[in-house]
Amino acid sequence: MCGIVGYIGHRKATDVIIKGLQRLEYRGYDSAGVAIVNGKIRIEKQKGKVAQLVKVISANPMQGSSGIGHTRWATHGEPNDVNAHPHTGQKKKFALVHNGIIENYDAIRKNLESKGHVFESQTDTEVLAHLIEEIYEISDTDFITSVQLALNEVDGTFGIAVVNNDDPDTIIVARRGSPLLLGIGEGEHFIASDASPIIEYTNKVVYLDDDEMAIINRDSYEVRTIKNVTLNKAVHELEMSIEQIEKAGFPHFMLKEIYEQPDTIADCMRGRLVVSENRIQLGGIAHVLDRIVNADRIIIAACGTSWHAGLVGEYLFEYLAKKKVEVEYASEFRYQNPLIDEKDVMIVISQSGETADTLAAVREAKSKGALVLGICNVVGSTIARETDAGVYTHAGPEIGVASTKAFTAQVTVLSLMAIMIGQKNGALSEKKSAKLIKALNEIPEKVKAILEHADDIKKMSELFTYAPNFLYLGRSYNFPVALEGALKLKEISYIHAEGYPAAEMKHGPIALIDQHMPVVVIAATDHTNDKMISNIEEVRARKGRVIAIANENNSEVANLAEYTIRIPETHDCFTPLLTVIPLQLISYYIAVNRKCDVDQPRNLAKSVTVE
Ligand code: G6P
Repeated sequence: MCGIVGYIGHRKATDVIIKGLQRLEYRGYDSAGVAIVNGKIRIEKQKGKVAQLVKVISANPMQGSSGIGHTRWATHGEPNDVNAHPHTGQKKKFALVHNGIIENYDAIRKNLESKGHVFESQTDTEVLAHLIEEIYEISDTDFITSVQLALNEVDGTFGIAVVNNDDPDTIIVARRGSPLLLGIGEGEHFIASDASPIIEYTNKVVYLDDDEMAIINRDSYEVRTIKNVTLNKAVHELEMSIEQIEKAGFPHFMLKEIYEQPDTIADCMRGRLVVSENRIQLGGIAHVLDRIVNADRIIIAACGTSWHAGLVGEYLFEYLAKKKVEVEYASEFRYQNPLIDEKDVMIVISQSGETADTLAAVREAKSKGALVLGICNVVGSTIARETDAGVYTHAGPEIGVASTKAFTAQVTVLSLMAIMIGQKNGALSEKKSAKLIKALNEIPEKVKAILEHADDIKKMSELFTYAPNFLYLGRSYNFPVALEGALKLKEISYIHAEGYPAAEMKHGPIALIDQHMPVVVIAATDHTNDKMISNIEEVRARKGRVIAIANENNSEVANLAEYTIRIPETHDCFTPLLTVIPLQLISYYIAVNRKCDVDQPRNLAKSVTVE
C-alpha cells in the first residue's frame, strides 16, 4: 500500500528518495511522485512504476537536498498522473504526501471550494494540502501550527509528510493510523513508512505513534503531539540488514523467500525450542502464561495469509493444548459486537504489524479487557507495540507481496505456543511433548529436502500454466493449507482458485470438476488418509486432474494421482509446514510461466493500512 520517503541533509534528495521508493515498491502501488524543495518546490509524478518517474527525472534532473516522495495505491480517484502524490495547495506553497484516508474530505473540499479553492485531482489528499495552506495564509500562523490546526479538523487516518516553500529547511511529518518512522543520520534525516528505505543509511530510528508529529531539519528533529505537547521519544536500533532486503541472486523476492524457509523456521525456533530439556521458552509471553492457560477462550484474529496461519493454530491449540479457540477475520471482528472480556485471550497474527483491520481488532479486544498477544514479523511495528505481549516470528523482511516465509514462521510460533501451553496445563505428557519437540526440530531439514525437488515441481507446473481454474482440497491441519495454496495461486497468477475442506467438495465444487480442472489434494496426514483417498477417487471419476501432496511412503495416493509431490514424514500436526512449500512453488512457477509480476501482483498491497 502507499509508501512515503523523505530526506533532508547533504545528499542529493532525489537519489535518496527514488532509491527509497524503489525499496517500497514491494508494498504495492500504481503511481509515484516526488517533490523537491530548491528555491521553489518542484513536483514530478507519474502513473505506473517508479522506473517511469525515473525516466522523467533523468530527462530533467531535480537538484536540491530536501524533499518527499510517495508511491500511491489508489483509494480516492483512479491511478493517473494527476491523482498521484505529492499534492499542493491553491498557491502551491506546500507539497504533501499522504498514506491513509481522510474520511471527511468531501465536507472540507466543499467548504474550501466556497472560498474559491479549485481542485485538480479527485483525491482526499489534495484537500488536506489546500487546508494546510488556507490556514497558513489566512490565519497567518507558522508552518507547524498550520499543520496541527489542519490535522485537528480531519477525520480518518494519515501518515503525512509536508514541505513548505517558505521554510525550505524543514519537513513536517505526522501520523494517525499509518506508520511513519524517522531515521537519524549525521547532519541528515530520513523519513519513511517502513524501515526498508532507511536501512542503508542509518540504523537509528524513532517510531512515531498515533497523533504525533516530527519537525525535521538537517541537524535536528523534534517530536510533539499534534496538540503541541513536546515529547522525548526513544531512539531504537534497527535489526534488519541491507542484504536481507536484496534479492541475493534470485530472480524474484518470492523465490528467495521460499528458499529461505529452512533458515527462517530454524531462526524462529532458535533459543525457544530447548530440545535437550524438552522445553519451550517464549520470553515474550512467559509473564502472561498463567493468564493464557486459565483463559476461557483464545480468539485468533488476522487477515489474509496470517488468517490461514491462525486456522492452523486453531487445530494446534485444540489438539495439543486442549484450549478452546475461535478464529476470526480481523476485519469482521468489530462488526460482530464481539463478546469478549478479561477472561479471554486474543492472539493477533500479522506479518507487517500494520494491517489496519488487525489493529482495529487489537484495540477492540483491549478496550473490553482481554489480554492481547501479537505474533508479528516486523519488529517495532504498531501491532507489536500496541499488544500486551507477544512473540516475533524473526523471518526477516518479507518483500514479495505473496506471503511465504511469514506463514511458515507464524505456524512455527503457533506450534511452539501450543506445546508450551499444553505442557503447562498438563494436556501434554512428557513423552508426547518430547516427540513433538523432536519433530518440530527436524522441520527445517525436511523443508530443505522438499526444496531440493523444486525442479520437478517446476516441470509439472508447466503443464498447468493455462488452466483457468484450480481447486485445492485438504482436511484437518491441511484444510487451511488448501486455502493458502489457492490464495497464493490467485494472488500472483490471477488464476481463479478455491480452497475447500475436502469433504465440502461434495456440497458444490464437485459440479465444476471435469477434465480441465486441476485438483490439488493435500493427503499428508495419516489420520485422514483413507478419506482423502476417497476424495481422489471422486475427482478421478469425474476426470479431474489430481495433483497430490503426499507422504514419501504413501504409494496408494501416488498410484491414484496424475502427479504426486512427495513430502517427508512428520507428526501430523506439523505437516502444514511441509505441505505448503510445494504449493508456494506451484504458484510461483505458474505465475512466472504466465509472465506475471510475481513480486508486485496487480492491485495487491503488502501492508494494508486502510480498513
Ligand atoms: C495483505 C498481503 C497478504 C497478507 C495480508 C495480511 O493482503 O498481501 O500477504 O497476508 O495483507 O497482512 P499482515 O501483514 O497483517 O500479515
